[in-house]
Amino acid sequence: MPADTDAREGGYDVFQRSQGDGPDRRPHRTALVAGGVVLGALICLVLAAGPPRPLTAGEGPVPTGQEIFRFDTFGDEQLWTDKLGMHQVIESSLDPQSALALGLKIDVDALPAELIAAIQLGLVDLTDPATTVELIRLNAVVGVVGTVEQVEGRSRLTKVGITCALCHSTVDDSFAPSFGRRLDGWPNLHLDPGKIIAASPAIPDGARDVYRSWGPGKYDPRFNIDGLSTPLVIPPAYGLAGVKKETYTGEGPISYWNSYVAVTQMGGHGSFRDRRLQINIVQAPDLVTPKLPDLRDYQLTLEAPPPPAGTVDPTAAARGKIVFNKQGTCARCHIPPHYTDVNLGRLHAPAQTGMDKAYALRTTTKKYRTTPLRALWQHPPYFHDGSAATLLDVVEHYDEHLKLGLTDQQKQDLVEFLKSL
Ligand code: HEC
Ligand code: HEC
Repeated sequence: MPADTDAREGGYDVFQRSQGDGPDRRPHRTALVAGGVVLGALICLVLAAGPPRPLTAGEGPVPTGQEIFRFDTFGDEQLWTDKLGMHQVIESSLDPQSALALGLKIDVDALPAELIAAIQLGLVDLTDPATTVELIRLNAVVGVVGTVEQVEGRSRLTKVGITCALCHSTVDDSFAPSFGRRLDGWPNLHLDPGKIIAASPAIPDGARDVYRSWGPGKYDPRFNIDGLSTPLVIPPAYGLAGVKKETYTGEGPISYWNSYVAVTQMGGHGSFRDRRLQINIVQAPDLVTPKLPDLRDYQLTLEAPPPPAGTVDPTAAARGKIVFNKQGTCARCHIPPHYTDVNLGRLHAPAQTGMDKAYALRTTTKKYRTTPLRALWQHPPYFHDGSAATLLDVVEHYDEHLKLGLTDQQKQDLVEFLKSL
């Protein structure tokens, strides 16, 4: 019995209201640049650049799917601020260097030109948490949305929440490592969500050790439900158009999973019910459900990025395609064009492909979905638990488990074909 995922009729008035409470747009001084008379002028320049980009770039009040994906916290400040106190953690200790070390990314399009120039001149203090607060005020930290207010003459981060983009977007590093233009749908495999959550003083010691154990690029979306820990590789959110069921275990369509994550993981203020998991969360107003259709439609526009020019040998890939279809027997499950058989209603017992069963057993299906192969070049490691570091490891795994007897040449060719998908 599928959970309630149909969007109910509902306006966007709540979103508008939360925008009204949004980031403080009044210019104010921050510790962006080290003090000094000469630099004072620079600060003025930066501030004169005007208010940060509004959350909603479009004309109308209704946020687009892209805006929901990038900027909507669904009211999850109730978790990240009220319960976890992350606004205080950020203010007191998260300088930009530490933020980048945790895998957070900076959207250069959100930075005023003067600030970019100041960063280039080395005038911005990247060891001061106040700089992080300023970056959040500018809406430049991908997947992090905060409210900065003047309290007793100081800029204070009074609220913070997260968005889908935290885990499912990265940047192209065009300005500097971790500074660049947004790449929506690309998994942020540098991000260490467990370590971020573990920084909250509200997390009990036992749980903190578990959160710290996950490592970059991984997250366990059930730990807070069943207390077990088998972290998953953060998957891409692109290349899913035409794929009928989402997640490693084929839990349901995109909106089912989006609703699950927004309410039970991000802590959004919405309702989610699934009898199979014995979860019944009802929160009014529901800031999640009415947005699910637009959020889904946006994800369906995200295409898998092709491999960079010159990185695939077409002749070897053509030979590899034959291995994929014939001796490798890959195509009996990875059926083109999406390279999955989930559209035929098939899922696979863990033993069938030699996978660890621990995660599957915690889910509603107990099986793994044949992962739709998309932009494999972009997102190592592979398999739900990241047990294959490279595509050659994937091929070696299948060669052994399915007793394929591939030659070294065939393995190399198959890898070349996989890189081309
Ligand atoms: C804390 C990190 C995190 C956040 C935030 C997050 N996700 Fe995910 N997402 C994951 C992980 C981990 C999985 C893998 C879950 C699984 O397959 O069981 C996943 C799976 C998915 C999938 C399935 C991909 C596939 O191959 O089937 C989609 C789509 C998705 N997320 C979209 C979203 C959207 C939309 C949001 C915001 C509502 C969101 N995610 C928020 C970590 C995150
Ligand atoms: C019996 C069905 C089946 C066959 C045959 C099969 N696969 Fe898979 N494949 C799966 C399943 C199920 C998964 C998901 C496993 C997991 O994530 O733990 C998967 C995952 C993968 C992944 C990981 C994708 C990612 O994004 O993490 C790759 C790559 C892959 N398979 C390639 C191949 C190749 C190459 C072959 C042939 C040598 C092959 N598969 C044969 C079912 C199959």
